Amino acid sequence: MKKARIAVLVSGGGTNLQALIDAEKNGKIPSGTLSVVIASKPGVYALERADQAGIPALAVSRKASGSQAAFEQQLLDILESYRIDMIVLAGFLSILSKDFTDRYPQRIINIHPSLIPAFCGAGYYGLKVHEAALSYGVKVTGATVHYVNEVPDGGQILLQKAVEILPGDTPQVLQRRVMEQAEWILLPQAAEMVAAKIIGKEEHA
Ligand code: GAR
Repeated sequence: MKKARIAVLVSGGGTNLQALIDAEKNGKIPSGTLSVVIASKPGVYALERADQAGIPALAVSRKASGSQAAFEQQLLDILESYRIDMIVLAGFLSILSKDFTDRYPQRIINIHPSLIPAFCGAGYYGLKVHEAALSYGVKVTGATVHYVNEVPDGGQILLQKAVEILPGDTPQVLQRRVMEQAEWILLPQAAEMVAAKIIGKEEHA
């Protein structure tokens, strides 16, 4: 059976990448295969996780590329050489232009650590999202997987899961709870949904 070839784009520790690697190993992504991991800078731990899983791992630096266009061209060249069908942004913090996202309509997904449309858009990433949720005083937050278009965190929502905020939460404690209770579950599910759609199966088997 043909599988959708998946690229995972990362910028940091790669716990969401690890969730994808574990899910694939446990048969939870039957319609897709993790085919390459691309980091937005060298030296990030996510690259080591890819290595350990035997997935080709590369770094492309926005700074070293000189321009957004050159950076995206490098990404496109890699995606083409690995014959990639779909892209998962798993903590990838570089912005992608409309030129780029238009090339993969409904084939790029992103995980965001809040219930969109709360605490999202330009400037909301990583711990900043949880700091904002705590300082606003919301009692429930969560995670969202959405399709990626040119609007930061603005594409169609695929999956969401709510997570409780508890008294005394710090941004770090809340981040970990949102990862454990929502992100690491939703992202592999959404990857399978999109991969299944690409290879022409029903979205929910
Ligand atoms: C995750 O919490 C992810 O949702 C968030 O960055 C973290 C990456 O962690 N992404 C964003 O904030 C995107 N706007 P990881 O490298 O351990 O997966």
